[in-house]
Amino acid sequence: MKPLSTKLSSIPASMTLAVNDKAKAMQRAGQDVIALAGGDPDFDTPDHIVEAAVSALHNGHTHYPAPMIGLPQTLEAIAAKMHRDNQIPIDDPRHQIIVTPGGKWALYLALAAITNPGDEILVLEPYWVSYPPMVTLTGGTPVFVSLPSEDNFRITAERLRAKVTPRTKAIMVNNPCNPTGRVLTEAERDAIVEVAQEADLYVIADEIYEKLVFDGRTHLSIAAAPGMAERTLTANGLTKSYAMTGWRLGWLVGPPDIIRLATKQNGQSVSCAATFTMHACVAALNGPQDNIVTMRDAYQQRRNFMVAALNAIEGVECRSIEGAFYLFPRFPHSQKNSLELADALLEKAQIAATPGIAFGQSGEGHLRFAISTAQADLERAAERLARVAPFL
Ligand SMILES: Cc1ncc(COP(=O)(O)O)c(C=O)c1O
Repeated sequence: MKPLSTKLSSIPASMTLAVNDKAKAMQRAGQDVIALAGGDPDFDTPDHIVEAAVSALHNGHTHYPAPMIGLPQTLEAIAAKMHRDNQIPIDDPRHQIIVTPGGKWALYLALAAITNPGDEILVLEPYWVSYPPMVTLTGGTPVFVSLPSEDNFRITAERLRAKVTPRTKAIMVNNPCNPTGRVLTEAERDAIVEVAQEADLYVIADEIYEKLVFDGRTHLSIAAAPGMAERTLTANGLTKSYAMTGWRLGWLVGPPDIIRLATKQNGQSVSCAATFTMHACVAALNGPQDNIVTMRDAYQQRRNFMVAALNAIEGVECRSIEGAFYLFPRFPHSQKNSLELADALLEKAQIAATPGIAFGQSGEGHLRFAISTAQADLERAAERLARVAPFL
């Protein structure tokens, strides 16, 4: 047989797979595994959004959308949202927005539209697991900017500058950040803007957790900074804010020449997002937003509970998080690496967590716990962890 794709073969196997497979096998065997390794809200999609989709289906909106990049009312709703929430003005929604099947595909399109072979893309570490493979698959080279845990994963212009070369094309920024729960400060935003402008870089801003910021913080969009709209591609979607992971609805906003290329990639691959979900998107963005606040407040309460519970356990250190729904505790007394830690936690306490190394070298020593999980499960997880912590 002839060889298969070298590009795809070069993508390393997911490091989270081993723990997840084992957790699933334990569940199948009847064990009570507490799943903290996922990233799916435990809330249901708000009713009015579901109803909008159902009535779209009943009303025959079951065909290709026109235009394929997004229904006019969906593009308008996204443009209004970007203006209202993100201070990103969109004069021409049809040329500055593309609706995508999920936020992840918006990131792919962004990378595909700007990357040439040999281009380097700066990936802040710890990173979301999909960033490096996405960069590789779209023909670029990921270059890691390590953000130290001891400095609360702070982004500085010096740390970015140290990795810029003549081949650097873009910086990928996830704000709020999965897995660290960090939310961009003004100083960090300014550092990114400064380096992007001095080195003529694009910024790919992944704002999928935008609505999940705690303690009254403000979410800062990079494209809203002066002079940045022309070099920033903002990816967002309904997934996390509206508990709509299974709907697959996201979008990419950027300069028309980049969106034009993203549209080509979209048209020749997935064609478009699903038409009825575009109707649901209008209901989500233009309808009542109180569900978002309810869900955010619930995550914030879970954070308060879980951070306190973890820090009360000898051998566990957990910084409070500013946004998103993941905790990223350390186990300073343990001799184990994060893969071994995740395995031991699964074996001894039946808790499935994600090993920190999955998010890059600067995630080593950490585990990621998703708090998009019912409060009762978090309480049980904290009890179990307290019991096994001395043996980790
Ligand atoms: C940081 C980050 N970006 C993007 C996504 C993709 O979201 P979607 O499900 O909309 O593709 C996720 C999903 O977990 C994520 O954690």
